[in-house]
Amino acid sequence: MAMDRGKGRGKAGLWAAAAVIVFMIAALPLSAQAGNAKKGEKIAKTRKLGNCVACHYLPGVESPGNIGPNLVESMQEYTMADRKEVVQWIRDARKFNPGTIMPPFGTNKILTPEQIDDLVTYLYTLKK
Ligand code: HEC
Repeated sequence: MAMDRGKGRGKAGLWAAAAVIVFMIAALPLSAQAGNAKKGEKIAKTRKLGNCVACHYLPGVESPGNIGPNLVESMQEYTMADRKEVVQWIRDARKFNPGTIMPPFGTNKILTPEQIDDLVTYLYTLKK
């Protein structure tokens, strides 16, 4: 009897492990695509990383720059369907404006594709 109960527990444990693995596999591509908003915010506001606030208004920053548009206002204009466009702005804004002063963060490898993805995820949190 005791052995049977032990077997039962083992099976339950196996199912739990299987469920965790299935969940991890399901969550992986999602997180890879979704980006990390917290990391993105840090990149945007850190001088050595994106330093977007040198030119753009972002909330919670003391005396941000205003050479570029206020990104809170800009983000109200974008829907989730425009995500690729927002990524492109950061990757290389010259696609939209050949004479832009915004640095091509992706093309010039200032930021990695993952960092740009994190940034865009953060920017979408500014949508009201
Ligand atoms: C040197 C100044 C500068 C820096 C640094 C900069 N930008 Fe820009 N950005 C601009 C300007 C100026 C524009 C307006 C379009 C243009 O003139 O090319 C712009 C446009 C944008 C747009 C499009 C806005 C809209 O209304 O459609 C986004 C999104 C954007 N920037 C995000 C960022 C992010 C994120 C960073 C940090 C990784 C960043 N920018 C860093 C100057 C800058």
